[in-house]
Order: sequence, then C-alpha cells, then structure tokens
Amino acid sequence: MQKINNDIYDTYGDRWYTADDDPVALLRAESKTKNPWIIEKISSHLGPQKIHSDISVLDVGCGAGFLSNELARHQYAVTGVDLSEESLKVAQKFDQTQSVRYQVADAYRLPFADQSFDVLTAMDFLEHVENPKEVIKEFSRVLRPNGLFIFHTFNRNPLSYLIIIKSVEWFVKNTPPHMHLLELFIKPDELQSYCLDAGMLAEEMIGIKPIFSSIPMRSFFSGIVPKTLEFELTKKLWLSYMGSAVKGL
Ligand SMILES: C[S@@+](CC[C@H](N)C(=O)[O-])C[C@H]1O[C@@H](n2cnc3c(N)ncnc32)[C@H](O)[C@@H]1O
Repeated sequence: MQKINNDIYDTYGDRWYTADDDPVALLRAESKTKNPWIIEKISSHLGPQKIHSDISVLDVGCGAGFLSNELARHQYAVTGVDLSEESLKVAQKFDQTQSVRYQVADAYRLPFADQSFDVLTAMDFLEHVENPKEVIKEFSRVLRPNGLFIFHTFNRNPLSYLIIIKSVEWFVKNTPPHMHLLELFIKPDELQSYCLDAGMLAEEMIGIKPIFSSIPMRSFFSGIVPKTLEFELTKKLWLSYMGSAVKGL
C-alpha cells in the first residue's frame, strides 16, 4: 500500500495562511463554511447558554489552526494537537487570542487522561491515518460522557477519486504526490460503525461542496485557487462530508 504524504505539513510555514497556488488554499476556503456549522453544532449540543470558556475542545490534527483559532475567537477553551511541530508554530502565530494550548501529539496516543474534553474535533483528518477505527477509540477515551465528536473526511467512490484526488492534481499547482489516497477515504456507514464500536452514536452527517459559480472560468487552468471560491453545505455525502457523534453516558 502507498503511504499517505503527511510530511508536506512541515513545509508550509505561513503559506498555510497565504498561498493560493496550493491545495492548502482549498482547505482554507472550506474552513469558512465548516467553522460556523461546527460552532452552531457545539452550541446546540451543549446548550447555547453555557459559557464558552467552560467548554473544553480538543482539535486533533489541527494543522495551522484554521478551526482551533476560530474556536478560540469564540472564547472556547481550545487545545490543538498535531504531529507537525512546524504547523503548530504557524497556528500559534496566527492565534489572535494567544489562548490556544498547542502541543505535539499523535492521535493514536493522546497525552490526556480519560474523559478530559467536552468536544473533540478532527477536520480533514481521518483520511490521513491508516487505522481510523483505532484513532476513533482513542478519541472516545478522552471525551466525557455526552461529549461531542465532530469530524470531516472524504467518501470513497469513483467520483471522489476523480474530484478530490485527480481534479486537484490537474487544476491546482503544487499538489504533492499522495496528498490523499483513495483507499484511506471513508464511507459514511464505515464511519458510523467505527463510532459505534467506540461507544459513540453518529448523528447528523452533511456534505460540503464547492459553489462552482464562485470559480471564474479563467482560473480553472491557472493552477491558482481563486479568492472568490466558496463552499456550501449539501445533503449529498458523495464527496466531502462532516458530521457529529455523541459519546454514550
Ligand atoms: C489535511 S491536514 C488538516 C489540518 C486541519 N485539521 C484543517 O482542517 O485545516 C491533516 C493534519 O493531520 C496531521 N496528522 C497526520 N497524522 C497525524 C497523527 N497521527 N496525529 C496527529 N496529527 C496528525 C498532519 O500533520 C496535518 O496537519
């Protein structure tokens, strides 16, 4: 089996936040649609009246903090972990609140006690590990009962191979080899069963897709991700999808 390329995250530096000639710009654009959905989900699950700073969130595979830093701006008590120390330095630099606790950690062995967090997020992450089932068990360990697990990953089918892997390689400059591997993509029902095995019940799942009209024709062949690119939520889970699961009491 080919190995997923997780080394690229050490090389981005500030380009995490500035590059538009790289697939990282897609991740940045997508986070603008994902983040409000996540914040709404946390609020509706734990109670809108709950004081945000009393809610502990662990963002696993946080990269340069596109979600962690936004949650911190909303006053949540955020810990962000990643294997890439270089990415964590960027995340910290761009944390306007300077409140996020960033730390190097491996998702397979989180350095936290059982039942330490109210919420655990893993965005664009599960398709970067070879054993998501084991990782999800570890997530469940550190979540409190009734804790919320929020995920984003990619469905595995011929269309996702074409759009998520091949189209990005063809149309976006600097796409590295093996940035994504089809065999590591996860079907929604597989993810549901991994959650169930870990004592968590998956609730809602929702798709996310680019708004094609937000892409000017000329930028298709430029290799550049246009600043106008926007994503929207969709009921279809064919490609990219998010969801949540609740840990049993
Ligand atoms: C595609 S990036 C997603 C970053 C961030 N969650 C986002 O949505 O912007 C995947 C991240 O997972 C990290 N990663 C991969 N394997 C990991 C592991 N076993 N433990 C912790 N982080 C890991 C990589 O270093 C990278 O930062």
